[in-house]
Amino acid sequence: MMTSNTRLIIGLTLLLTGVTGLLAIRSNPMPAGGMGMMGQGNMKEMMKRMMGDQLPPGIDAADLPDPQSQGALLLTRYCTQCHDLPPPALHTSDEWPKVFARMDRRMTMMSRMGSILSPTDQDRLIILSYLLRHAADASE
Ligand code: HEC
Repeated sequence: MMTSNTRLIIGLTLLLTGVTGLLAIRSNPMPAGGMGMMGQGNMKEMMKRMMGDQLPPGIDAADLPDPQSQGALLLTRYCTQCHDLPPPALHTSDEWPKVFARMDRRMTMMSRMGSILSPTDQDRLIILSYLLRHAADASE
């Protein structure tokens, strides 16, 4: 049983090397335009096919707590690159640091391959404290 990270890396490697023949054996075809045209939309499409039910349920940015705050804006900027916008109340303040660290590793890894923006140290702090402030067990 491969881990989801392994699957992600294999999937991305196939995309990046343009091995479309191998991908053709998957039930779903590549997005039209293929690798060269891989923008954020295509990234999210691919994620949905590969990760399906592991992805978070999405909400609208306007429904975020404190929607005008920098935390909300940065969460929306960085965390919708691969899947829909995750609600801060999805996890407790115990869980978020671990989930965030997993996502952060992904963003760092994938920013080296291009197409994904990974947060600066300052943005990391802002996003994580925003998530903790509005976590499922937060008092607000
Ligand atoms: C580089 C692509 C990518 C980015 C950017 C990304 N994620 Fe994810 N996310 C994934 C993948 C792939 C999964 C499914 C596998 C998993 O849970 O690790 C996932 C799953 C999730 C889940 C559901 C699983 C769980 O443990 O609850 C949450 C919540 C989540 N991401 C939050 C975030 C947040 C918050 C950010 C921004 C800080 C973010 N993601 C940015 C790829 C990404």
